[in-house]
Amino acid sequence: MSIDLTEETITAEVQKTFDGAADDRMREIFVKLVQHLHDFTREVRLTGEEWFTAVDFLERIGRISSPTRQEFVLLSDILGLSVLVDQLNHGSGSATDSTLLGPFYVEGRPRAENGADISGGVPGMPLFFSGTVVDAGGRPVAGADVDTWHSDSEGFYDVQQADKLHGEPAMRAWLKTDRDGRFSFRSIVPRYYPVPTDGPCGEILRAARRSPMRPEHIHFWFHAPGHEPLVTMLFRRGDPYLEQDAVFGVKRSLVTSFVPHEAGETAPDGTEMDEPFQTVEWTFTLDPARR
Ligand code: BEZ
Ligand code: FE
Repeated sequence: MSIDLTEETITAEVQKTFDGAADDRMREIFVKLVQHLHDFTREVRLTGEEWFTAVDFLERIGRISSPTRQEFVLLSDILGLSVLVDQLNHGSGSATDSTLLGPFYVEGRPRAENGADISGGVPGMPLFFSGTVVDAGGRPVAGADVDTWHSDSEGFYDVQQADKLHGEPAMRAWLKTDRDGRFSFRSIVPRYYPVPTDGPCGEILRAARRSPMRPEHIHFWFHAPGHEPLVTMLFRRGDPYLEQDAVFGVKRSLVTSFVPHEAGETAPDGTEMDEPFQTVEWTFTLDPARR
């Protein structure tokens, strides 16, 4: 290894240290990472103080992160990286558009039967969701795993209200499609919300005078043998934040009507409702597995 490295020579010298990497893809990624990181540093003439601020920032992101507080995912989201990765890896074929996962998916979500109330008793206007999962040829996909999760009527996910909910999951479930590819659940109408701003990512949003808001949506994650997994969301038509999403995740094809109904009307599950409610229906298309 050379010594007395300069601004001009250090990049190649660091890149050479990956020559022996056992994994070609790992080498490719690190060589490019070093190139771009060094070019960026030279281009902005990063000061020592700025470097220290950045390291401290990442350290604080690590400290605040947990399985239910994914600040690194949020950093990727607010920098547009999550959506860029999604665009690079999906987006061809006839499948429903995908979008970012976000930080509020959690492992260990409760299994629910079709038609079940998944609200966990959280108050709000009732919402009835009816979905169908089909393949690229329009044929129903039976037995698909469907994960869904959404916020409450004040814009909070269950994991943000763990004290109030005694750590119990709510407004999330793992369902399976029936033989006609259908799934359904009852829950409550979600609401637009700010991404969490009480951590380091919030500092960036405030410093940049950016809106932290996400438009109202319901998340879905589908898995079915022989098909590509699909991570997506449905957004409410008319939401005031559709064009100001803090994490760049809105696609026109995923905006749909949350249909309002009056008290006295019959819900899709046959219940005579004594309060207003909303219904959403959607057909999701999965692409065939790539390999
Ligand atoms: C979400 O939709 O749950 C979400 C996505 C990105 C950042 C914060 C929240
Ligand atoms: Fe969300």
